[in-house]
Amino acid sequence: VSAEEVETVASPTVSGDAVAQLSALEEAVRGCRQCALCDGRKQTVFAQGSPTADIVFVGEAPGEQEDIQGLPFVGPSGQLLTDIITKGMKMQREDVYICNVIKCRPPNNRDPLPAEKDACEPYLLQQLDLVKPKVICALGGHAAKTLLKTDESTGSLREKWHFYHGIPLRVTYHPAYLLRSPGEKRKAWDDIQEVLKVLNGEITPTP
Ligand code: URA
Repeated sequence: VSAEEVETVASPTVSGDAVAQLSALEEAVRGCRQCALCDGRKQTVFAQGSPTADIVFVGEAPGEQEDIQGLPFVGPSGQLLTDIITKGMKMQREDVYICNVIKCRPPNNRDPLPAEKDACEPYLLQQLDLVKPKVICALGGHAAKTLLKTDESTGSLREKWHFYHGIPLRVTYHPAYLLRSPGEKRKAWDDIQEVLKVLNGEITPTP
């Protein structure tokens, strides 16, 4: 067989392994009791989208609708994220991978506690290591601070390339914040344009 044939045979196996490992991880998360949020959840919210996506969006934590449906970003901020993906980026939600720092809904949508983020972080890290996207978009402070191990604000982390395990990472505002402050949507769109440049191969940020 030619090298080309070996490649077409070999590559699905590699991503197939990652898909299987993601399923196993999702199953583990379903039974997770690492923090007290498990007592209040209807169900865990692992991720949605393609396990071989070039881009991963990382949000904060499930809200009410997410807890009910078991899917990330399906409430009001989800509608805005869907608009960003479909109307702005001209992609489909199925083409991207969407997940959160925290897999269970905090009561009354309060901010996740540091101990909850610490308990849940290994799941996110494994998701990112298995999906291996070309670019990561951190939606808001909880995602940015968890992935970049910083206390800086979303505003000061924007407008530059960061790296998570060598993968370019862009920080933008959380859709829930954009719904409260629609005047900031322009800035979020600027951030997304930079992400698109990586996806389109126009730029390759290096650490
Ligand atoms: N829905 C999510 O899944 N994550 C958020 O961060 C907000 C809403």
